[in-house]
Amino acid sequence: MSQKTSNGITYFLGDSDGERQRLTEQAAILEPFTRRLFESAGIAPGMRVLDVGSGAGDVALLAAEMVGPTGSVTGVDRNADIMEVARSRAKASGYDNITFLNTDVNDLMIDDAFDAVVGRAVLMYQLDPVVTLKQATRSLRDGGIVAFLEFDTTTGGGISIPNSSVVSKCWRWFIETMQLSRVERHMGFKLPSAYKAAGLLHPQMQAHSVIGGGPNWPGYKYVEHTMRSMLPVMEQFGVTTAKEVEVDTLAERLEAESLENGTVFMVSNWIGAWTHKV
Ligand SMILES: C[S@@+](CC[C@H](N)C(=O)[O-])C[C@H]1O[C@@H](n2cnc3c(N)ncnc32)[C@H](O)[C@@H]1O
Repeated sequence: MSQKTSNGITYFLGDSDGERQRLTEQAAILEPFTRRLFESAGIAPGMRVLDVGSGAGDVALLAAEMVGPTGSVTGVDRNADIMEVARSRAKASGYDNITFLNTDVNDLMIDDAFDAVVGRAVLMYQLDPVVTLKQATRSLRDGGIVAFLEFDTTTGGGISIPNSSVVSKCWRWFIETMQLSRVERHMGFKLPSAYKAAGLLHPQMQAHSVIGGGPNWPGYKYVEHTMRSMLPVMEQFGVTTAKEVEVDTLAERLEAESLENGTVFMVSNWIGAWTHKV
């Protein structure tokens, strides 16, 4: 099911069990990028961190590991079901320094003073990311860290050499659905201007690509599961059909192409930016 939010933006990946699973798979791929961003930003033991749009809790879990038992993490998400998943994963991982709050970050009322505000793949879903950033950093102490990692299509994605028509088609459907869903495609590049408008200092930045191929590359399943999560919204918007996507064999077909032709796929790009509150 698509999640049409009150701001008119469709969370085009839906909120199925499959999507929750996809988020944790994506998180495993993005973990090194996110860790590097947080290390560069200065997330350190003892800090109190606010994670905006926690989803299944992967960023909060990473932050909890980095701040250690003397620090703490508060995760916020407007989706009650996914918050429950995040809570049970935190419990199963043995972390008792994470609290999850089920609320829209734009309505967040919290008195704690945080040392850092972080988020991944969340500003791109806001009608006005500046409003969200202002609200999220309201309880950040002066000098505190702001670090976001956002998906960005500016430099492409769905690229392959030799060219794979399968991946090119998936990318075309993906971009069309993103546009129809009113999700921001250039959020990574827009992070500095959003930070500035929210009263924050100009950030330092990093870019990361999900690129690979060959046997057993996790990127094949990442593409398949992303297409599976998006399929209901793609069909709803008339972008493509289940018959055309043949989602059940997508990962298999991409791997076969890579093994046969040596194809390398660059499936997505991510941009991180970190700064401090003045
Ligand atoms: C693509 S998921 C990313 C989850 C997580 N940050 C990660 O990278 O694994 C985006 C999440 O942000 C949440 N979200 C989006 N806008 C929000 C808002 N204004 N307030 C709270 N949660 C929000 C959605 O419900 C969803 O769970």
